[in-house]
Amino acid sequence: MRGIILAGGAGTRLAPMTLATSKQLLPVYDKPMLYYPLSTLMMAGIRDVMVISTPRDLPVMQALLGEGAQWGMRFSYAVQPEPKGIAQAFIIAKDFIGYQPVCLILGDNIFYGATLGAQLQKAAKITSGGHVFAYRVRDAQRYGVIELDAAGKVLSIEEKPKMPKSPLAVTGIYFYGPDVVQVAEGLTPSPRGELEITDVNTHYLRAGTLSAQLLGRGAAWLDTGTPDSLLAASQFVQTIEARQGLKIACVEEVAYHRGFIDSAQLQDLAARYGSNDYGAYLRQLLP
Ligand code: DAU
Repeated sequence: MRGIILAGGAGTRLAPMTLATSKQLLPVYDKPMLYYPLSTLMMAGIRDVMVISTPRDLPVMQALLGEGAQWGMRFSYAVQPEPKGIAQAFIIAKDFIGYQPVCLILGDNIFYGATLGAQLQKAAKITSGGHVFAYRVRDAQRYGVIELDAAGKVLSIEEKPKMPKSPLAVTGIYFYGPDVVQVAEGLTPSPRGELEITDVNTHYLRAGTLSAQLLGRGAAWLDTGTPDSLLAASQFVQTIEARQGLKIACVEEVAYHRGFIDSAQLQDLAARYGSNDYGAYLRQLLP
């Protein structure tokens, strides 16, 4: 399965923080925001990842993440010249996707929870159709809203409805068969001028091939869209990390535990941090 991290957009709601840098490069407590969606893809077992961002920000992301071999990954990079919609990512990544199923994650989405790894690995098994994650929120009208029946079958999906049919938001991680490229190519832009991911999901819903998993109350799907929610996300990560002594979204740790790198490679990665806390954390993972 291929992975895509969509990390473009203007970041206007976070300006002036985003006047000279990308939202997805801002810190969430102790690491760049991009590490969170990247580690989510890695937990799903995905090793081929394309990062898509603006012409301004892509080179910095490339400097941060490199080619991926250091983490047992393969990264490629593509520009989205203008933010013309989440679904445009599939058209940009057409050659990269080829005949593979694909997982798209938004570069500002933070997922955390005990069941997450198993749920992601289940999702990553799909080879056709569409698969999304639903999460209960207080303010569903701000999101794509999904309605499920008691058996978990998808009944409806709507983008930012004024009167949500359920409290379940569609989160920013999506799994599709390789035909998602043609589905995206067949969309017409919405009134806000974007190729909407909800229209992609509606296509699969109509075809009877859209499925969903509920991320339960023990899981966290955090917002980073405003200064307050960004700070809250940092505080959440700090609280868990301080209490447990375990890091959230430490890409080196995920790579090591998934067997993408061995202990000698982890040792080399730790060395680049010298004596700082991050380096000490990596070193104590070693046998
Ligand atoms: O976060 C989940 C929600 O994401 C879903 O519930 C909605 O169905 C989906 O439409 C989307 O909602 P928003 O309209 O609020 O997404 P936003 O425009 O804020 O874009 C999400 C991220 O993707 C943001 O960090 C910027 C990036 N992006 C967005 C667009 C439209 C791009 O990189 N390129 C784009 O063209």
